[in-house]
Parts: sequence; C-alpha cells; structure tokens
Amino acid sequence: MTSVSNDSDSEDELPPGWEERATFDGKVYYINHFKKSTQWTHPRTSSKKIVAGELPSGWERCTSNDGKMIFIDHLNHTTTYTDPRLAFAVEYREPSQSVRQRFDASSSALAVLHGRDLKGKVALVTGSNTGIGFETAKSLAFHGCTVVLACRSTKKAAEAIQRIKSQQEYASCEALSLDLSSLRSVKNAVEEFKKKYRLLNILVLNAGVFALPYSLTEDGYETTFQVNYLSQYYLTLLLEHHLKNTSNSRIVVVAGESHRFSSIQVIEDIHQSILSPPVFKYWSVDAYSNSKLCNILFAQELAKRWPSVSVFSCHPGNMVSSDLSRYSWFYKFLFTIVRPFTKSLQQAASTIVFCATAPELERLSGIYFNNCFRCETSNISMDQNLASRLWCVSQDMIMNIVQHKNFCTL
Ligand SMILES: NC(=O)c1ccc[n+]([C@@H]2O[C@H](COP(=O)([O-])OP(=O)(O)OC[C@H]3O[C@@H](n4cnc5c(N)ncnc54)[C@H](OP(=O)(O)O)[C@@H]3O)[C@@H](O)[C@H]2O)c1
Repeated sequence: MTSVSNDSDSEDELPPGWEERATFDGKVYYINHFKKSTQWTHPRTSSKKIVAGELPSGWERCTSNDGKMIFIDHLNHTTTYTDPRLAFAVEYREPSQSVRQRFDASSSALAVLHGRDLKGKVALVTGSNTGIGFETAKSLAFHGCTVVLACRSTKKAAEAIQRIKSQQEYASCEALSLDLSSLRSVKNAVEEFKKKYRLLNILVLNAGVFALPYSLTEDGYETTFQVNYLSQYYLTLLLEHHLKNTSNSRIVVVAGESHRFSSIQVIEDIHQSILSPPVFKYWSVDAYSNSKLCNILFAQELAKRWPSVSVFSCHPGNMVSSDLSRYSWFYKFLFTIVRPFTKSLQQAASTIVFCATAPELERLSGIYFNNCFRCETSNISMDQNLASRLWCVSQDMIMNIVQHKNFCTL
C-alpha cells in the first residue's frame, strides 16, 4: 500500500475545546481543555506534525518568568503562547511508519466520513437493520449516499430507515428484502435491485449469524456457512455487471479475527468441516470461524478475478455489543460484561466505512483491515490454492441448487 492523500483544511479543523501548541523543539501537541489532557496526535486525523524553519520576520521567541515559551510580535506589539509557524506545520512520520494511520480503534464511522460528500453514490449493505450494519448504513446515508438496506425482514428494515430519517430527514434509504438462508431470495433481491439501480458504488457484505445451533437452510446447506458466506458470494456474483460498470466501485467483506481459529487447514477440510459436517461434530463457534475464513479467502480470490473493483475484508471489533450473541445465553452474558471495554457500534462501523470510502485506498484491493489499518491475515487465509478451490466449490454448490430449483444461472 503506498499513496496517502493530503489533508484537507476541513479535516484539519480542531474539534471544540481543543488547542494546538508546539514544544521548544518544534513538535506539535494538542490540548484538550475539557479533559485537561494533552496528546501528540491530531484528535481528528491522528496525524503528527512539526513546525520547522525560522519565525516570521518581526517575531521573537522568549521564555517568560514562569518558564513558559512565549512569542513576541514586535510589529504589532503583541505576545502569545501560540507559535506563529503552527499555521504551516507539516505532517511527519516516525521512520518505522510507511503509511500514515489516519484513524484507529477509537475512531467512529462518522469521524472517518468527516467532510466527505457521497452524493450520487449507491451502497447496498446486507444485514443493516441492526448492529454494525445499521451504523454503517446510517453513517453512509448521513453523508449523502443512497443506501439500500438489504435485510431479511422488510418490516425491520423500514423501522431502521425510520430511525435514520428521524435523525436526518433527507437521508436517501431504501429497504430490500434479502434472506441469506435462501438462494432464491438472493436472486429475487438482485432482480429487485436491478429494476431500480444501474450502478453500485459500494457493496458491504455485513450480515452474519454467530453461535447458531446446527440447522440446514432450505437449500440444504449448514446455515452459518450459507448466511455468512455462500449466499453473499452468490449475491456478489449476481451484482457483477453493476459493480464492474461503476468506476472505482468497492466491496467490503465483513469478516473477523475469528478466521484465525478456523479448523480448516487443507482443501479437503472444506468438504469435511463446511459442506457436510456430521451433526455430532458440529460446533457453532467453529462453524462461525470457518465462515469468516471463507469470507477472507473469497475477498482475496475476488480481488484477483475482478481487478477493476476494489475488494477489502475487515474486522469490525472484538465482542462488540450487538445482536450477534442472541443465539447463545453464554455469549450474551459474556458480551454484556465486556461491553464497557469494547468498541461502540459507531466505532465498530468505522473500519467498514473506511474500506468503503477512504480516498487513499483507491485502486488498491485484496487487503484486510482492522482498526482502519492494514493487517496481515492468518497463513491459511493467504493460501491461493485454497481460495481458488473454495471459489469453485461454492460455484458448484450454487449451480446444484440453481439447476435443481430451476431459477437462475450465475
Ligand atoms: N459483534 C462483533 O463483535 C463482531 C466481531 C467480528 C465480526 N463481526 C461481524 O460483523 C457483522 C455484523 O454483526 P453484528 O455484530 O452487527 O450482528 P447483529 O447485530 O446480529 O447483526 C447481524 C445482521 O445480519 C442479519 N442477518 C442474520 N441472518 C440473516 C439472514 N438469513 N438473511 C439476511 N440477514 C441476516 C441480521 O438480521 P436480523 O436482525 O433480521 O436477524 C442483522 O441485520 C457480522 O458479519 C459479524 O460476523 C461482528
């Protein structure tokens, strides 16, 4: 990953209650007057800056009686604590930093979008009636993007849209019925979408289930695998034309760090662990981790097969308090007690929104992000053979259903 865009003025603006100062040796620091704290990084952009060069003519730097650095403007006969060169402070990077990290774990999705105008863009977000998907859809809509909330319950989607519109009346949102436990529903959803939209700038594959007891979908596949991965693979392929015909389109696959705990090690495991796990061998947490590994393998393979589209996968956060734990009282309890230490839903949506919109990611693809920053995935997830085999296996699984139920080809 290389280029980093320059900051805009609006991005550099300090939030209320903050002040910028410089140390004697020119390092810029930021004072939070509300919290009475200081930090080296800009509170909005996380950049670090220095002031360099001579003071403007007529200025002099002195130390006051109480040991503070002051600046005297001899032309205007004024004195200030603020270094006049701060207006021209330049960003610097630690020698070890090859890319500037503009945002981190504490950034919210709205902070990532600060100053961005997404008018004219169309985004489709799966599973956006609640949780991280809702915050993603809301944040994009607040910045002018037309957002299609693709959800299994149109009633819940309509309520979600109401919630967005109650905060921003002119937000452009629409509900789309999409049940990922049915390939037929995926196909119908895409047909509906295509009736209204010619382009698709952002596709966010967010919907997911976790800790679900063993069950099969109407298509006969294990539910966690189909909902979290297979149906969203199918959805993406059906949207190929739209994505490829939109310039700079992006796909964000919401995966997760759980992919590191997947039991899949070799190609043969795909069959044994995913396609037809014997009921007695099924462990819901493993099924989830496997589906998240599939998400990453899919993103890598897609990035290779569709070079004109940017494809990113990401981790939103650890044990973020959402409805994800709803199927297990144990995880519900666990998610509740760790809540004070985990990301908020707005923070969890930030990496997704960053992948979907950050200008510095233009023309990049096949990268995994955590905390709005590039991250390595597990060794097995980088196995290109496995990724291409999964692609073919998934295609076969879909063709089986499509031919059997006679509803659509890829
Ligand atoms: N929360 C975390 O700590 C965490 C950590 C890592 C990764 N993630 C990933 O982040 C994504 C969002 O999770 P979340 O935490 O926001 O969970 P959530 O609050 O449970 O939201 C999940 C969304 O997926 C939808 N969904 C479930 N089954 C579906 C189906 N058959 N068809 C269509 N939509 C379906 C849900 O719809 P309903 O409301 O109708 O069920 C809901 O809108 C998931 O992919 C998850 O794996 C979350």
